[in-house]
Amino acid sequence: MKTIIEPFRIKAVEPIHLTTKSERNSFLIKAGFNLFQIPAQNVTIDLLTDSGTAALSNEQWAALMRADESYAGAASFYRFESAVRSIFGFRHVMPVHQGRAAERLLFQQMVRPGQIVPSNTHFDTTRANIECLGANALDLPCQAWRESDSNEHFAGNIDIEGLKQLLDSTDSGAVPMALLTVTNNACAGQPVSMQNIRETSKLLRRRQIPFFIDAARFAENAFLIQQREAAYADRSISSIVSEMFSYVDGCLMSCKKDGIANIGGFIAVNDDALADRIKEEMIVTEGFPTYGGLSGRELETIAVGLGEAIQEDYLRYRQAAAQFLHFGLRKIGVPVVCPPSLHAIYVDAAAMFPHIPASQLPGQALACELYREAGIRSCEIGTAMFGKTDHETGEQICAPKELVRLALPRRVYTQSHYEYVIEAFKNITKRRHLVQGLRFKAQAQKLRHFTAVFEPIESEIVSIFCQLDVEKYLTADLAYEI
Ligand code: F0G
Repeated sequence: MKTIIEPFRIKAVEPIHLTTKSERNSFLIKAGFNLFQIPAQNVTIDLLTDSGTAALSNEQWAALMRADESYAGAASFYRFESAVRSIFGFRHVMPVHQGRAAERLLFQQMVRPGQIVPSNTHFDTTRANIECLGANALDLPCQAWRESDSNEHFAGNIDIEGLKQLLDSTDSGAVPMALLTVTNNACAGQPVSMQNIRETSKLLRRRQIPFFIDAARFAENAFLIQQREAAYADRSISSIVSEMFSYVDGCLMSCKKDGIANIGGFIAVNDDALADRIKEEMIVTEGFPTYGGLSGRELETIAVGLGEAIQEDYLRYRQAAAQFLHFGLRKIGVPVVCPPSLHAIYVDAAAMFPHIPASQLPGQALACELYREAGIRSCEIGTAMFGKTDHETGEQICAPKELVRLALPRRVYTQSHYEYVIEAFKNITKRRHLVQGLRFKAQAQKLRHFTAVFEPIESEIVSIFCQLDVEKYLTADLAYEI
Protein backbone atom coordinates (compact mmCIF):
# COMPACT_ATOMS: atom_id res chain seq x y z
CA MET A 1 0.00 0.00 0.00
CA LYS A 2 1.21 3.48 -0.89
CA THR A 3 -1.01 5.40 1.53
CA ILE A 4 0.77 6.24 4.74
CA ILE A 5 -1.73 6.12 7.57
CA GLU A 6 -1.56 7.36 11.15
CA PRO A 7 0.02 4.35 12.87
CA PHE A 8 -2.49 4.60 15.73
CA ARG A 9 -6.21 4.81 16.32
CA ILE A 10 -7.92 7.29 18.60
CA LYS A 11 -9.00 6.20 22.07
CA ALA A 12 -9.85 9.48 23.78
CA VAL A 13 -11.08 12.62 22.08
CA GLU A 14 -11.03 16.26 23.09
CA PRO A 15 -13.74 18.58 21.70
CA ILE A 16 -12.74 21.64 19.72
CA HIS A 17 -14.53 24.84 20.65
CA LEU A 18 -15.73 26.69 17.55
CA THR A 19 -15.96 30.49 17.33
CA THR A 20 -17.30 33.01 14.80
CA LYS A 21 -15.22 35.48 12.84
CA SER A 22 -16.58 38.47 14.69
CA GLU A 23 -15.81 36.79 18.05
CA ARG A 24 -12.29 36.11 16.84
CA ASN A 25 -11.91 39.68 15.70
CA SER A 26 -12.71 40.93 19.18
CA PHE A 27 -10.47 38.28 20.80
CA LEU A 28 -7.62 39.53 18.63
CA ILE A 29 -8.15 43.13 19.67
CA LYS A 30 -8.39 42.11 23.32
CA ALA A 31 -5.16 40.10 23.00
CA GLY A 32 -3.26 43.05 21.53
CA PHE A 33 -2.84 41.07 18.30
CA ASN A 34 -0.59 38.66 20.18
CA LEU A 35 -1.68 35.04 19.78
CA PHE A 36 0.10 33.97 22.97
CA GLN A 37 -2.49 36.07 24.80
CA ILE A 38 -5.52 34.25 23.37
CA PRO A 39 -7.10 31.65 25.66
CA ALA A 40 -6.69 28.20 24.05
CA GLN A 41 -10.39 27.48 24.23
CA ASN A 42 -10.87 30.20 21.60
CA VAL A 43 -8.50 28.44 19.20
CA THR A 44 -9.85 25.97 16.64
CA ILE A 45 -6.61 24.44 15.33
CA ASP A 46 -3.62 25.14 17.54
CA LEU A 47 -0.39 25.13 15.55
CA LEU A 48 1.37 27.56 17.88
CA THR A 49 3.92 24.94 18.85
CA ASP A 50 4.79 21.27 18.72
CA SER A 51 6.18 21.65 22.23
CA GLY A 52 4.39 19.88 25.07
CA THR A 53 1.27 19.49 22.93
CA ALA A 54 1.54 15.80 21.98
CA ALA A 55 -1.10 13.16 22.54
CA LEU A 56 0.19 10.43 24.85
CA SER A 57 0.06 6.80 23.79
CA ASN A 58 -1.70 4.04 25.73
CA GLU A 59 1.76 2.81 26.79
CA GLN A 60 2.57 6.23 28.20
CA TRP A 61 -0.72 6.35 30.13
CA ALA A 62 0.01 2.87 31.46
CA ALA A 63 3.49 3.99 32.53
CA LEU A 64 1.94 6.92 34.40
CA MET A 65 0.19 4.44 36.65
CA ARG A 66 3.45 2.58 37.28
CA ALA A 67 5.20 5.77 38.37
CA ASP A 68 7.08 5.90 41.64
CA GLU A 69 6.75 9.30 43.32
CA SER A 70 9.51 8.83 45.89
CA TYR A 71 11.50 11.98 46.52
CA ALA A 72 14.91 10.35 46.09
CA GLY A 73 15.93 7.43 43.90
CA ALA A 74 12.47 6.71 42.52
CA ALA A 75 12.21 3.67 40.21
CA SER A 76 10.81 6.08 37.61
CA PHE A 77 14.11 7.96 37.59
CA TYR A 78 16.09 4.81 36.90
CA ARG A 79 13.76 3.89 34.01
CA PHE A 80 14.15 7.43 32.65
CA GLU A 81 17.94 7.35 33.07
CA SER A 82 18.19 4.00 31.37
CA ALA A 83 16.06 5.15 28.39
CA VAL A 84 18.18 8.29 27.93
CA ARG A 85 21.46 6.38 28.33
CA SER A 86 20.51 3.69 25.87
CA ILE A 87 19.45 6.18 23.19
CA PHE A 88 22.04 8.93 23.63
CA GLY A 89 24.93 7.06 25.25
CA PHE A 90 25.96 9.52 27.99
CA ARG A 91 26.90 8.47 31.51
CA HIS A 92 25.25 11.23 33.54
CA VAL A 93 21.58 12.03 33.01
CA MET A 94 20.03 14.97 34.85
CA PRO A 95 16.29 15.58 34.52
CA VAL A 96 14.99 19.15 34.47
CA HIS A 97 11.52 20.63 34.19
CA GLN A 98 11.99 21.73 30.57
CA GLY A 99 14.55 22.65 27.93
CA ARG A 100 15.27 26.17 29.08
CA ALA A 101 16.14 24.97 32.58
CA ALA A 102 18.73 22.67 30.98
CA GLU A 103 20.06 25.64 29.04
CA ARG A 104 20.40 27.80 32.14
CA LEU A 105 22.09 25.08 34.20
CA LEU A 106 24.55 24.11 31.48
CA PHE A 107 25.45 27.64 30.36
CA GLN A 108 25.89 28.75 33.97
CA GLN A 109 28.65 26.18 34.31
CA MET A 110 30.24 26.70 30.91
CA VAL A 111 29.89 30.32 29.84
CA ARG A 112 31.34 33.59 31.20
CA PRO A 113 30.52 37.23 30.32
CA GLY A 114 32.01 38.37 27.02
CA GLN A 115 32.50 34.85 25.64
CA ILE A 116 31.00 33.68 22.34
CA VAL A 117 28.79 30.61 21.94
CA PRO A 118 28.46 29.68 18.25
CA SER A 119 25.58 27.61 16.92
CA ASN A 120 23.94 26.74 13.62
CA THR A 121 21.14 28.90 15.07
CA HIS A 122 20.18 29.40 18.69
CA PHE A 123 16.48 29.16 19.41
CA ASP A 124 14.87 32.02 21.36
CA THR A 125 15.30 30.71 24.92
CA THR A 126 18.79 29.40 24.16
CA ARG A 127 19.84 32.83 22.96
CA ALA A 128 18.19 34.51 25.96
CA ASN A 129 19.93 32.21 28.45
CA ILE A 130 23.33 32.97 26.90
CA GLU A 131 22.69 36.69 26.70
CA CYS A 132 21.51 36.73 30.33
CA LEU A 133 25.03 35.68 31.30
CA GLY A 134 26.49 38.64 29.40
CA ALA A 135 27.81 36.36 26.64
CA ASN A 136 27.27 36.48 22.90
CA ALA A 137 25.01 33.89 21.18
CA LEU A 138 26.41 33.74 17.66
CA ASP A 139 24.35 32.24 14.82
CA LEU A 140 26.31 30.68 11.98
CA PRO A 141 23.65 29.24 9.64
CA CYS A 142 25.04 27.68 6.47
CA GLN A 143 25.17 29.48 3.16
CA ALA A 144 22.30 27.45 1.64
CA TRP A 145 19.97 28.75 4.35
CA ARG A 146 21.12 32.33 3.96
CA GLU A 147 20.58 32.10 0.20
CA SER A 148 17.25 30.22 0.48
CA ASP A 149 18.56 27.36 -1.63
CA SER A 150 15.68 24.91 -1.58
CA ASN A 151 17.79 22.19 -3.20
CA GLU A 152 19.94 21.90 -0.11
CA HIS A 153 18.77 18.96 1.95
CA PHE A 154 20.61 20.00 5.08
CA ALA A 155 19.95 23.73 5.26
CA GLY A 156 20.05 23.44 9.06
CA ASN A 157 23.82 22.93 9.00
CA ILE A 158 26.31 25.19 10.71
CA ASP A 159 28.58 27.18 8.41
CA ILE A 160 31.82 25.25 8.85
CA GLU A 161 33.95 27.96 7.19
CA GLY A 162 32.36 30.61 9.42
CA LEU A 163 33.07 28.52 12.50
CA LYS A 164 36.66 28.00 11.41
CA GLN A 165 37.15 31.71 10.89
CA LEU A 166 35.68 32.44 14.31
CA LEU A 167 37.99 29.95 16.00
CA ASP A 168 41.05 31.20 14.07
CA SER A 169 40.33 34.84 14.81
CA THR A 170 39.67 34.60 18.55
CA ASP A 171 41.94 33.86 21.51
CA SER A 172 41.73 30.50 23.16
CA GLY A 173 39.12 30.81 25.87
CA ALA A 174 36.91 33.15 23.84
CA VAL A 175 34.67 30.27 22.78
CA PRO A 176 33.78 28.14 25.83
CA MET A 177 31.50 25.72 23.96
CA ALA A 178 29.48 25.29 20.76
CA LEU A 179 25.93 24.08 20.29
CA LEU A 180 24.19 22.48 17.32
CA THR A 181 20.38 22.60 17.28
CA VAL A 182 18.89 19.52 15.58
CA THR A 183 16.69 20.04 13.72
CA ASN A 184 17.28 23.76 13.34
CA ASN A 185 14.02 25.28 14.59
CA ALA A 186 14.88 28.92 13.82
CA CYS A 187 15.84 27.87 10.27
CA ALA A 188 12.50 26.33 9.33
CA GLY A 189 13.22 23.03 11.08
CA GLN A 190 15.83 22.13 8.49
CA PRO A 191 18.01 19.18 9.49
CA VAL A 192 21.74 18.98 10.18
CA SER A 193 23.69 16.32 8.29
CA MET A 194 25.87 13.70 9.94
CA GLN A 195 28.77 15.06 7.92
CA ASN A 196 28.22 18.52 9.37
CA ILE A 197 28.07 17.16 12.93
CA ARG A 198 31.26 15.18 12.30
CA GLU A 199 33.15 18.13 10.78
CA THR A 200 32.04 20.47 13.57
CA SER A 201 33.21 17.95 16.12
CA LYS A 202 36.60 17.62 14.45
CA LEU A 203 37.13 21.38 14.41
CA LEU A 204 36.16 21.80 18.04
CA ARG A 205 37.98 18.75 19.38
CA ARG A 206 41.21 19.93 17.79
CA ARG A 207 40.90 23.04 19.98
CA GLN A 208 39.47 21.15 22.97
CA ILE A 209 36.25 23.16 22.91
CA PRO A 210 33.27 21.29 24.39
CA PHE A 211 30.57 20.52 21.85
CA PHE A 212 26.90 19.98 22.68
CA ILE A 213 23.72 19.20 20.79
CA ASP A 214 20.35 20.77 21.53
CA ALA A 215 18.44 17.51 20.98
CA ALA A 216 14.85 18.79 21.07
CA ARG A 217 14.05 17.18 17.69
CA PHE A 218 16.82 14.58 17.49
CA ALA A 219 14.62 11.77 16.14
CA GLU A 220 13.24 13.86 13.28
CA ASN A 221 16.79 14.92 12.41
CA ALA A 222 17.96 11.28 12.43
CA PHE A 223 15.06 10.31 10.15
CA LEU A 224 16.00 13.04 7.66
CA ILE A 225 19.63 11.87 7.75
CA GLN A 226 18.40 8.36 6.91
CA GLN A 227 16.39 9.72 3.99
CA ARG A 228 18.75 12.31 2.60
CA GLU A 229 22.34 11.27 3.39
CA ALA A 230 23.21 8.36 1.11
CA ALA A 231 25.53 6.55 3.52
CA TYR A 232 22.72 6.24 6.09
CA ALA A 233 19.89 4.93 3.91
CA ASP A 234 20.15 1.43 5.36
CA ARG A 235 20.90 2.36 8.92
CA SER A 236 18.31 2.16 11.70
CA ILE A 237 17.17 5.38 13.38
CA SER A 238 18.66 4.30 16.70
CA SER A 239 22.07 3.63 15.18
CA ILE A 240 22.00 7.02 13.42
CA VAL A 241 21.11 8.65 16.74
CA SER A 242 23.99 6.83 18.48
CA GLU A 243 26.42 8.07 15.86
CA MET A 244 25.11 11.68 16.02
CA PHE A 245 25.74 11.83 19.74
CA SER A 246 29.08 10.02 19.60
CA TYR A 247 30.59 13.22 18.17
CA VAL A 248 29.62 15.47 21.09
CA ASP A 249 30.45 15.93 24.76
CA GLY A 250 26.85 16.07 25.84
CA CYS A 251 23.38 17.21 25.01
CA LEU A 252 20.48 19.10 26.42
CA MET A 253 16.95 18.31 25.48
CA SER A 254 13.46 19.68 25.79
CA CYS A 255 11.47 16.42 25.98
CA LYS A 256 8.34 18.39 25.08
CA LYS A 257 9.25 17.76 21.44
CA ASP A 258 10.77 14.39 20.48
CA GLY A 259 10.26 13.10 24.02
CA ILE A 260 6.54 13.09 23.09
CA ALA A 261 5.87 14.40 26.59
CA ASN A 262 3.90 17.35 27.87
CA ILE A 263 6.71 18.61 30.08
CA GLY A 264 10.31 17.76 30.96
CA GLY A 265 13.86 17.80 29.72
CA PHE A 266 17.36 16.71 30.62
CA ILE A 267 21.07 17.37 30.42
CA ALA A 268 23.30 14.39 29.59
CA VAL A 269 27.12 14.50 29.76
CA ASN A 270 30.11 12.23 30.27
CA ASP A 271 32.26 14.67 32.24
CA ASP A 272 32.04 13.64 35.94
CA ALA A 273 33.11 17.01 37.33
CA LEU A 274 30.68 18.95 35.14
CA ALA A 275 27.84 16.62 36.14
CA ASP A 276 28.67 17.17 39.82
CA ARG A 277 28.58 20.93 39.42
CA ILE A 278 25.27 20.83 37.54
CA LYS A 279 23.71 18.52 40.16
CA GLU A 280 24.79 20.85 42.95
CA GLU A 281 23.07 23.77 41.25
CA MET A 282 20.04 21.65 40.38
CA ILE A 283 19.28 21.08 44.04
CA VAL A 284 19.02 24.83 44.54
CA THR A 285 16.60 25.53 41.71
CA GLU A 286 15.21 22.39 40.01
CA GLY A 287 15.05 19.69 42.66
CA PHE A 288 16.96 16.63 43.82
CA PRO A 289 19.01 15.16 40.92
CA THR A 290 16.77 12.09 40.59
CA TYR A 291 13.68 14.12 39.80
CA GLY A 292 14.85 17.61 38.70
CA GLY A 293 11.47 19.27 38.99
CA LEU A 294 9.55 16.41 37.39
CA SER A 295 7.12 13.99 38.95
CA GLY A 296 7.67 10.25 38.60
CA ARG A 297 4.76 10.26 36.17
CA GLU A 298 6.50 12.74 33.90
CA LEU A 299 9.78 10.80 34.01
CA GLU A 300 7.87 7.67 32.95
CA THR A 301 6.10 9.49 30.11
CA ILE A 302 9.44 10.61 28.71
CA ALA A 303 11.09 7.20 29.13
CA VAL A 304 8.37 5.65 26.95
CA GLY A 305 8.01 8.64 24.61
CA LEU A 306 11.69 8.71 23.63
CA GLY A 307 11.40 5.12 22.44
CA GLU A 308 8.22 5.88 20.48
CA ALA A 309 9.82 8.91 18.82
CA ILE A 310 12.48 6.78 17.13
CA GLN A 311 10.05 4.27 15.63
CA GLU A 312 10.18 4.46 11.86
CA ASP A 313 6.46 4.04 11.18
CA TYR A 314 5.76 6.95 13.51
CA LEU A 315 8.40 9.13 11.80
CA ARG A 316 7.14 8.14 8.34
CA TYR A 317 3.59 9.16 9.31
CA ARG A 318 4.88 12.40 10.77
CA GLN A 319 6.61 13.23 7.52
CA ALA A 320 3.53 12.29 5.47
CA ALA A 321 1.39 14.67 7.55
CA ALA A 322 3.87 17.52 7.10
CA GLN A 323 4.11 16.82 3.37
CA PHE A 324 0.33 16.78 3.00
CA LEU A 325 0.04 20.26 4.45
CA HIS A 326 3.12 21.51 2.61
CA PHE A 327 2.01 20.29 -0.82
CA GLY A 328 -1.56 21.52 -0.24
CA LEU A 329 -0.27 25.02 0.52
CA ARG A 330 2.18 25.04 -2.38
CA LYS A 331 -0.56 23.99 -4.77
CA ILE A 332 -2.56 27.14 -3.99
CA GLY A 333 0.51 29.38 -4.31
CA VAL A 334 1.41 29.90 -0.65
CA PRO A 335 5.16 30.54 -0.41
CA VAL A 336 6.46 27.83 1.91
CA VAL A 337 10.04 26.96 2.83
CA CYS A 338 11.22 23.88 0.89
CA PRO A 339 11.83 21.09 1.52
CA PRO A 340 9.40 20.67 4.42
CA SER A 341 10.71 19.63 7.81
CA LEU A 342 8.76 17.26 10.05
CA HIS A 343 7.73 19.36 13.01
CA ALA A 344 6.33 22.36 11.16
CA ILE A 345 5.60 24.07 7.88
CA TYR A 346 7.13 27.52 7.54
CA VAL A 347 5.40 30.14 5.41
CA ASP A 348 7.40 33.03 3.98
CA ALA A 349 5.21 35.93 5.08
CA ALA A 350 7.41 38.54 3.37
CA ALA A 351 6.75 36.83 0.03
CA MET A 352 3.06 36.41 0.78
CA PHE A 353 2.61 40.08 1.70
CA PRO A 354 5.13 42.00 -0.42
CA HIS A 355 3.30 45.24 0.41
CA ILE A 356 4.17 44.91 4.13
CA PRO A 357 7.80 45.85 4.91
CA ALA A 358 9.67 43.68 7.45
CA SER A 359 9.54 46.54 9.96
CA GLN A 360 5.73 46.24 9.87
CA LEU A 361 5.88 42.58 10.87
CA PRO A 362 4.36 40.66 7.93
CA GLY A 363 4.71 37.40 9.87
CA GLN A 364 2.72 38.69 12.81
CA ALA A 365 0.16 40.07 10.34
CA LEU A 366 -0.22 36.65 8.72
CA ALA A 367 -0.48 34.89 12.08
CA CYS A 368 -3.29 37.29 13.09
CA GLU A 369 -5.02 36.87 9.75
CA LEU A 370 -4.99 33.07 10.07
CA TYR A 371 -6.57 33.36 13.47
CA ARG A 372 -9.15 35.85 12.26
CA GLU A 373 -10.01 33.73 9.23
CA ALA A 374 -10.35 30.32 10.81
CA GLY A 375 -9.24 30.30 14.46
CA ILE A 376 -5.87 28.81 13.52
CA ARG A 377 -3.05 29.74 15.88
CA SER A 378 0.46 29.85 14.44
CA CYS A 379 3.71 31.44 15.51
CA GLU A 380 5.66 34.29 13.96
CA ILE A 381 9.34 33.47 13.53
CA GLY A 382 10.63 36.75 12.19
CA THR A 383 11.18 40.28 13.41
CA ALA A 384 8.69 40.08 16.29
CA MET A 385 10.59 37.07 17.69
CA PHE A 386 14.18 37.71 16.65
CA GLY A 387 14.33 41.43 15.81
CA LYS A 388 15.03 44.31 18.17
CA THR A 389 13.73 47.84 18.55
CA ASP A 390 16.32 50.59 18.53
CA HIS A 391 15.06 52.49 21.53
CA GLU A 392 16.68 55.75 20.45
CA THR A 393 15.19 55.92 16.96
CA GLY A 394 12.20 53.60 17.49
CA GLU A 395 13.27 51.68 14.38
CA GLN A 396 12.97 47.92 14.03
CA ILE A 397 16.20 46.00 13.51
CA CYS A 398 14.70 43.23 11.42
CA ALA A 399 15.32 39.48 11.48
CA PRO A 400 16.88 37.89 8.36
CA LYS A 401 13.57 36.25 7.38
CA GLU A 402 9.88 36.81 8.08
CA LEU A 403 8.43 33.35 8.61
CA VAL A 404 5.27 31.99 10.15
CA ARG A 405 5.51 28.52 11.63
CA LEU A 406 2.61 26.10 11.46
CA ALA A 407 3.87 23.66 14.09
CA LEU A 408 2.39 20.18 14.05
CA PRO A 409 1.64 18.75 17.49
CA ARG A 410 2.54 15.07 17.63
CA ARG A 411 -0.35 12.61 17.03
CA VAL A 412 -3.00 15.31 17.56
CA TYR A 413 -4.51 16.45 14.25
CA THR A 414 -5.76 14.44 11.29
CA GLN A 415 -5.83 15.09 7.56
CA SER A 416 -9.16 16.96 7.63
CA HIS A 417 -7.71 19.44 10.13
CA TYR A 418 -4.91 20.16 7.67
CA GLU A 419 -7.43 20.50 4.83
CA TYR A 420 -9.14 23.16 6.94
CA VAL A 421 -5.82 25.00 7.30
CA ILE A 422 -5.29 24.91 3.53
CA GLU A 423 -8.78 26.33 2.95
CA ALA A 424 -8.07 29.17 5.38
CA PHE A 425 -4.93 30.06 3.42
CA LYS A 426 -6.91 29.96 0.19
CA ASN A 427 -9.31 32.58 1.57
CA ILE A 428 -6.52 34.80 2.87
CA THR A 429 -4.65 34.56 -0.42
CA LYS A 430 -7.66 36.03 -2.22
CA ARG A 431 -7.52 39.22 -0.16
CA ARG A 432 -3.84 39.24 0.67
CA HIS A 433 -3.29 42.80 -0.62
CA LEU A 434 -5.63 44.15 2.03
CA VAL A 435 -3.83 42.68 5.01
CA GLN A 436 -2.30 45.35 7.21
CA GLY A 437 1.09 45.47 8.89
CA LEU A 438 1.48 45.83 12.64
CA ARG A 439 3.67 47.82 15.00
CA PHE A 440 4.72 47.26 18.61
CA LYS A 441 2.66 49.20 21.12
CA ALA A 442 4.43 47.68 24.15
CA GLN A 443 7.25 45.17 24.51
CA ALA A 444 9.37 43.52 27.21
CA GLN A 445 13.17 43.64 27.19
CA LYS A 446 13.62 39.88 26.86
CA LEU A 447 11.72 37.38 24.70
CA ARG A 448 9.39 40.18 23.70
CA HIS A 449 7.16 38.16 21.36
CA PHE A 450 5.49 36.30 24.23
CA THR A 451 3.96 39.37 25.87
CA ALA A 452 4.18 42.20 23.33
CA VAL A 453 1.14 44.30 22.48
CA PHE A 454 0.75 45.14 18.79
CA GLU A 455 -1.47 47.51 16.86
CA PRO A 456 -2.42 47.52 13.19
CA ILE A 457 -0.91 50.11 10.88
CA GLU A 458 -3.88 51.12 8.82
CA SER A 459 -3.17 51.86 5.21
CA GLU A 460 -5.64 54.19 3.53
CA ILE A 461 -7.53 51.52 1.65
CA VAL A 462 -7.78 49.23 4.64
CA SER A 463 -8.96 51.99 6.90
CA ILE A 464 -11.78 52.90 4.47
CA PHE A 465 -12.56 49.24 4.38
CA CYS A 466 -12.62 48.83 8.14
CA GLN A 467 -15.22 51.55 8.49
CA LEU A 468 -17.57 49.17 6.72
CA ASP A 469 -19.31 46.30 8.40
CA VAL A 470 -16.63 44.12 10.04
CA GLU A 471 -18.27 40.86 8.99
CA LYS A 472 -18.27 42.01 5.38
CA TYR A 473 -14.64 43.01 5.63
CA LEU A 474 -13.88 39.52 6.73
CA THR A 475 -15.48 37.86 3.72
CA ALA A 476 -12.95 37.18 1.04
CA ASP A 477 -14.96 37.95 -2.08
CA LEU A 478 -16.05 41.40 -1.01
CA ALA A 479 -12.42 42.39 -0.66
CA TYR A 480 -12.07 42.56 -4.40
CA GLU A 481 -15.28 44.47 -4.98
CA ILE A 482 -14.08 47.45 -2.94
N1 F0G B 1 15.63 24.28 22.04
C1 F0G B 1 14.83 24.26 20.96
C2 F0G B 1 15.40 23.88 19.64
C3 F0G B 1 13.49 24.59 21.09
O1 F0G B 1 12.71 24.56 20.02
C4 F0G B 1 12.99 24.94 22.37
C5 F0G B 1 11.59 25.26 22.55
C6 F0G B 1 13.85 24.92 23.46
C7 F0G B 1 15.17 24.59 23.25
C8 F0G B 1 13.38 25.25 24.85
O2 F0G B 1 12.65 24.21 25.37
O3 F0G B 1 10.34 25.05 25.74
O4 F0G B 1 11.16 23.01 26.90
O5 F0G B 1 12.01 25.23 27.55
N2 F0G B 1 10.82 25.52 21.61
C9 F0G B 1 9.39 25.70 21.69
C10 F0G B 1 8.87 25.95 20.31
C11 F0G B 1 8.95 26.65 22.72
O6 F0G B 1 7.70 26.34 20.20
O7 F0G B 1 9.58 25.69 19.35
P1 F0G B 1 11.47 24.38 26.45
